[in-house]
Amino acid sequence: MWEALALHLEIHAEAEERILYPHLLKRGSAETAEEETDDAIRDHNKIRDAIEAAKGHQAGSDGWWKAVWQARTENSEHLTEEEDEVLPDFRKHADMQLRVDLGAQWLTFYGEHPSGKGLTFHDKDPQRYIQENS
Ligand SMILES: [Fe+2]
Repeated sequence: MWEALALHLEIHAEAEERILYPHLLKRGSAETAEEETDDAIRDHNKIRDAIEAAKGHQAGSDGWWKAVWQARTENSEHLTEEEDEVLPDFRKHADMQLRVDLGAQWLTFYGEHPSGKGLTFHDKDPQRYIQENS
């Protein structure tokens, strides 16, 4: 179960980093978008790090539970920030057509990468990511 959930978390973060955050950097308010993106990439890195840490332990061992709990904690904090800060900012400028377009990109991404096929998951440097996607 953990491996399926971990894969879901990795794919979701990658989809956000390819679709949502580049959009925010290009269309959101510059200062807020950069701050929120920097925070999100750092959070995604922490989640990825915890997933990677869990791989080094036997499932059910103390070390595994510690890593899984770390992923859970980081993910819970991150979701709260996205739900309370990032998405409300997005809704301020996102009309229905934009939401449909981004939703189509999201579904296309998932269709092109079933179960993460063809994707590689790795930490990203937040400032470099912002520069490359602004
Ligand atoms: Fe995220």
